[in-house]
Amino acid sequence: MTKFQALLDHHAKVADRKILGLFGAPNGKTGRAQNFTVTVDGMLFDYSKTNIDETGLGLLLELAEGADLQAKREAMFAGEKINETEGRAVLHTALRAGDSAVVTVDGRDVMPEVRTVRARMFDFVRAVRDGSFAGQGGKITDVVNIGIGGSDLGPAMATIALSPFAKGPRLHYVSNVDGAHIADTLRDLNPETTLVIVASKTFTTIETMTNADTAKRWMRQKVSEPARQFCAVSTALDKTTAYGIDPARVFGFEDWVGGRYSMWGPIGLGIALAVGPEAFEEFLWGGRAMDDHFRSAPLARNMPVLLALVGLWHNQVCGHATRAVLPYDQRLSRLPAYLQQLEMESNGKRVSMDGVDLPYASGPVVWGEPGTNGQHAFYQLIHQGTRVVPCEFLVAKKGHEADLRHQHLLLVSNCLAQSEALLRGRSLDEATAIMAAKGLTGDELDRQARHRVFPGNRPSTTLAYEQLTPFALGQIIALYEHRVFVEGVILGINSYDQWGVELGKELALALQPMLEGRAGTEGKDGSTAALVAWARS
Ligand code: F6P
Repeated sequence: MTKFQALLDHHAKVADRKILGLFGAPNGKTGRAQNFTVTVDGMLFDYSKTNIDETGLGLLLELAEGADLQAKREAMFAGEKINETEGRAVLHTALRAGDSAVVTVDGRDVMPEVRTVRARMFDFVRAVRDGSFAGQGGKITDVVNIGIGGSDLGPAMATIALSPFAKGPRLHYVSNVDGAHIADTLRDLNPETTLVIVASKTFTTIETMTNADTAKRWMRQKVSEPARQFCAVSTALDKTTAYGIDPARVFGFEDWVGGRYSMWGPIGLGIALAVGPEAFEEFLWGGRAMDDHFRSAPLARNMPVLLALVGLWHNQVCGHATRAVLPYDQRLSRLPAYLQQLEMESNGKRVSMDGVDLPYASGPVVWGEPGTNGQHAFYQLIHQGTRVVPCEFLVAKKGHEADLRHQHLLLVSNCLAQSEALLRGRSLDEATAIMAAKGLTGDELDRQARHRVFPGNRPSTTLAYEQLTPFALGQIIALYEHRVFVEGVILGINSYDQWGVELGKELALALQPMLEGRAGTEGKDGSTAALVAWARS
């Protein structure tokens, strides 16, 4: 707490200064851009456009060291049960570990099983892609992944991100229990050439099981044995068998992989079907490269650590409650949604590991949309609203569309322009000069100029990579995973449970019979009882 207080005191002293001044503008004489940028395997993280200076960074690093970050990091990689409320290890890193890795849980090396399941999954992927595994009407043309949360967001995001590498069947993702989702997805598909993946860690999630039943009924209309075109990804192999799915097409994993961290293993089946085993392997290499960096780089040059410290600075120290993720990369359109689960389900906690109320804010609200679309929607508030929204820009040096290079340059210039505008702003004098040049004078000049002022001094970071390849995507996702870990360690919370999702699930189960008229609404609050009555009327 004293280290945290030191940070708050430091912030109080520097809060009003201009970030731009830290560069020794106009020519960056202080070397700040270089000193506050870290590069790893072709990926660059620039956090110079924040109000963090050498002193602030030093205090943030002390906070990390004081939280025993290095020891806790090794405990995670070593398979210790750091998810204390569920008594589980946290080992998504094992899913992307190298061939010689040994990772033990409860004294058992889990790597042989990881490799065996991956090999089976790749065999299945090849069989689907080359047609040796076919539907009852011929080669599989479409795959429908039914899952939700971590069994949907990661694979769905990555499938879009890696679409330039897709040569397999078309992938569709259904998650919502709203029947509209599955109905709209299945409408144009042929049951005879469609493969259904039921992806659920627990194989009990009501949305997924309901949609799986719907898909089975749909398939039965044209196919005599729907189960032959079903496969499953789960930790609950007894339940997949009971559901009638041939164990040969069931890909298991263990409870030490959290749902929102699971796309590196069998939950990534949809990604592998779309892009093939080789590209999927490259994705794993990217994640592993970030793991190696995270474990070996000094904290002051460690990309996930720095990303986390910038996040803590903005949220817990400066008090900015939200964080915008702004990929200038259309294929990362689902990254903000994916990160919402990763970050908010992990670090949206109100008590510490010991069950004590947190003395500071927990993780931030994460939101965003790809640029340049967001510019024409919510950037107005980011530039001129009264709240400060720290922005995280992501951008590739190269697009995949070689013949549209001019469009890519336009995209990059927009990305850089936005972070520059947030930093620099536009003063009243500058706005007045612009409006005076248009012929305004007197009170009208003053009034109009004031609307055109940009306060600037708004923080942003930029994560830049060469091109959105499977390797780069692996780096990006592992980077964000480790950021969540570091933030969680410093906040002293358990980033790996999610008790906050339970209450709503329980109440929904209890409400269903009331909506069907099989139970009364006694004990419900007045509003909920009235809404049930409305739904039934
Ligand atoms: O409701 C939250 C949650 O438990 C997530 O953590 C998880 O990713 C999602 O539901 C889906 O769970 P499952 O993979 O078990 O169906």
